[in-house]
Amino acid sequence: MPRTIGVLTAGGDSPGLNAAIRAVGKSAQRSHGMHVIGFRDGFRGLMQNRFIRLDSEDLSGILTKGGTVLGTSREKVHKMDVGNGRPMDMRPMIRKVVEQHNLTALVCLGGGGTQKNALRLWKEGIPVVTLPKTIDNDVWGTDTAFGYDTALGIATEAVDRLHSTAHSHHRIMVVEVMGHNAGWLALGAGLAGGADSILIPEVPYQIDAVADSILQRKAGGSSFSIVVVSEGAMTHAERGEYDVLRSGVDQARNDDDEDHARAALDKFEEARSRATEEMAEQLEALTGLEARVTILGHVQRGGIPSAVDRVLATRLGTAAADAVAEGNLGVMIASRGEEAVPVPLEEVAGRRKTVPADHAWITSARRLGVNLGD
Ligand code: F6P
Repeated sequence: MPRTIGVLTAGGDSPGLNAAIRAVGKSAQRSHGMHVIGFRDGFRGLMQNRFIRLDSEDLSGILTKGGTVLGTSREKVHKMDVGNGRPMDMRPMIRKVVEQHNLTALVCLGGGGTQKNALRLWKEGIPVVTLPKTIDNDVWGTDTAFGYDTALGIATEAVDRLHSTAHSHHRIMVVEVMGHNAGWLALGAGLAGGADSILIPEVPYQIDAVADSILQRKAGGSSFSIVVVSEGAMTHAERGEYDVLRSGVDQARNDDDEDHARAALDKFEEARSRATEEMAEQLEALTGLEARVTILGHVQRGGIPSAVDRVLATRLGTAAADAVAEGNLGVMIASRGEEAVPVPLEEVAGRRKTVPADHAWITSARRLGVNLGD
């Protein structure tokens, strides 16, 4: 009897997901003679046993599509809202679904949250393999994740376009890019787009330092500036508060403590929902120049994947099918150079790859005189 592999996509969507679904599915069928099914809407659809068959014809024509043909959701398998007023541990339900389909493995495509969910299932004896997907590029253990290159291209193009209008109007253009608490997207787009200031979560900024650099440019004859700011960029004071709240979540000893600590962190993040606009207002006041804000938002996650993301998703997707066939489970297939390397989920889950202070991109930015706000 042919073996069956299940696939799901979880967390925020990302360009390259369909390329990865196609690669896992086609490779499992063609190279290993497996059946493939896809679960709808991430771990929620898995728990509800909502699935479709992914035969060869279903996997054709999706390589270049954005989003995910399977749908996605943000869920925690051990704390899922099922409508009865308190989150439930749905792992037993998920185990039943996996057993019912007699899955050789469940391949979960997602970012940091998905790696944690997959580890929770693996620890319950459910066979899983994961792939790293995120525009934030913050999955631990892999050089990069699919989605990042496409988002980087979109953000860079936006910075390019804002350059010409900033120049015409002698304005400060503040561009907010996604990335959650990692600065890869802002740093990459800022460098590629020739930004004058790049503010990322890993380097707390001082507003006076940003304003001074803009005034220095003005004194040197450049009456416009481009400031690329990561949505998670913070001042020193905010960073201090954030670190305390974050460690409260990370060090919580039980579920109740964690819920409590997370609520405090959510409140802090909510209070920062206008952080970029407020920063632009401060820059106007400090420099006397007009400022405009562009928030790129979900545009960065939409549309067709870049060639680099398609190749990466294809490379990792085929390696995931091989890992399942070889019985190499409980791992994330990471990209390291040109290799696809299985890394134990225990090593990956719960860790975040942020920009190191001595990263080559930071060094290059400093050499070029780009202001990093510090
Ligand atoms: O993790 C991907 C990401 O796009 C982050 O950059 C961003 O902070 C978040 O997801 C937005 O999430 P949502 O799509 O749920 O608004």
